Amino acid sequence: MVEIFEGDRASNYEMFVDAWIPNYREFIDSVPKLLSGVRERNLLVAGCGTGNEILALGDQLSQWKVTGVDPSPEMLSQAREKLEDMDNVTLLGGQVRDLHMTEQFGAATLLLVLHFLKDDGSKLYLLAEIAKRMEVAAPFVMLDITGSTWQIKRNLEVLRNLVSNYIPPEEIQGRIERIEGELHYVTEERLTELFMQAGFERPVRFYQNTIYMGWYSRKV
Ligand SMILES: C[S@@+](CC[C@H](N)C(=O)[O-])C[C@H]1O[C@@H](n2cnc3c(N)ncnc32)[C@H](O)[C@@H]1O
Repeated sequence: MVEIFEGDRASNYEMFVDAWIPNYREFIDSVPKLLSGVRERNLLVAGCGTGNEILALGDQLSQWKVTGVDPSPEMLSQAREKLEDMDNVTLLGGQVRDLHMTEQFGAATLLLVLHFLKDDGSKLYLLAEIAKRMEVAAPFVMLDITGSTWQIKRNLEVLRNLVSNYIPPEEIQGRIERIEGELHYVTEERLTELFMQAGFERPVRFYQNTIYMGWYSRKV
């Protein structure tokens, strides 16, 4: 399953994440530090979107071989523009399942993607397709909307207050309704089960800001 990012949603994406996700850049900037001990510097960025987490590698970027994959042509074209000079970065349109099994990655990220997929086998499938392409013990970093219905409800109230200086109230309300009614977040316990069924170690929640939780695990 794929969540289509196109039109305004794709072109406004950068403004959206910065205004809506508290400390998004701080989170993204922590990813290279989490991966700094990796020996096999071959990174899979699943759902790379506009290339934020690839760019966050900054000075480290030239030391990595990076493969970004995303099904949205509009998001990918923004990533291509930003990363055009980087010949160690390959950007592919499509899904993780389309990647050859011959390449094994030394690390992988999946940021702000899994909550768009239903827990009807789609989440497990994506996680397993990533795990299959990783080396044993390779680290996996994920950012996702996570929590019980109660946690999400309360944390959305907190989020409403945090973003109220930057986003008009009716837009905030629309986004809250969409998250509650249309996105497919799961509890921390369910996410843990999914990781372990997919071929990852029990994950640790190393980060949280309101509804957004950052998870760290490794390929079994
Ligand atoms: C919210 S954006 C996140 C982009 C980027 N990871 C970031 O943090 O800025 C979600 C991205 O996931 C992509 N996506 C949707 N379904 C996907 C799937 N099944 N596999 C991989 N990527 C997917 C969308 O096209 C979109 O670019």
